[in-house]
Amino acid sequence: MLRKPFIAGNWKMNMTAESGAKLIEELKPLVKDANCDVALCVPAILIPAMVKAAAGSNIKIGAENVHWAASGAFTGEISAEMLKEYGVEYVIIGHSERRQYFGETDETVNKRLTAALAAGLKPIVCVGETLSERESGETEKVLYRQLAEGLKGVEDIKKIVIAYEPVWAIGTGKTATDEQAQETIAYIRKTLGELFCPKCAEKVIIQYGGSMNAGNCKGLMAQPDIDGGLIGGASLKLDFAKIVNFDK
Ligand code: PGA
Repeated sequence: MLRKPFIAGNWKMNMTAESGAKLIEELKPLVKDANCDVALCVPAILIPAMVKAAAGSNIKIGAENVHWAASGAFTGEISAEMLKEYGVEYVIIGHSERRQYFGETDETVNKRLTAALAAGLKPIVCVGETLSERESGETEKVLYRQLAEGLKGVEDIKKIVIAYEPVWAIGTGKTATDEQAQETIAYIRKTLGELFCPKCAEKVIIQYGGSMNAGNCKGLMAQPDIDGGLIGGASLKLDFAKIVNFDK
């Protein structure tokens, strides 16, 4: 298999230690025979409890953000080493909500990415255009900038997962059509080929994210360049298992 599919959840600021552990316990038997990699990215404070809940299963735990410094005077922030210490494997970087509400830029994405890779975390770097950018025909320009700036200096592009999340599709119930998602993700892969090397780009896992659910996952996953999903709302319930088992 050139690229193993990868389905990841993004709990955002949802769940408690109790409800999260309960959901993981229920998901475990439902996803144990998955043919894809499976992860749940959870709020930082829930990480120890969710790592414990997922122990011994094929569900890996991820974080939703990471700071770029190793340590220091950064009140409220969490370093890559701290995440590693608690058994975190993946980390989401540059989610559109962080870009929109918390001042994330391509430059800070790049700094976080560098720190995550140095610590041995597997980054899921989010890119995507807003509705007005799509409507004004700027999708490719925006994605090119996010990739060129955000991934600057990366030595081994295969170590990074890209999540293409059109901002207008996140939490809105409006999914990109299979064709729109495929076309844009193919553009992302082509761009990675230009920025890095075409052969390496063929090996990069690129997820789709934005209102992906049990009903539309099959069609999206059938597209040649779509290797997985980053799932928000539908990762808060057992539907997540249906997405993980998209091929069954
Ligand atoms: P959604 O969120 O599935 O709820 O649209 C996706 C995401 O923001 O990663």
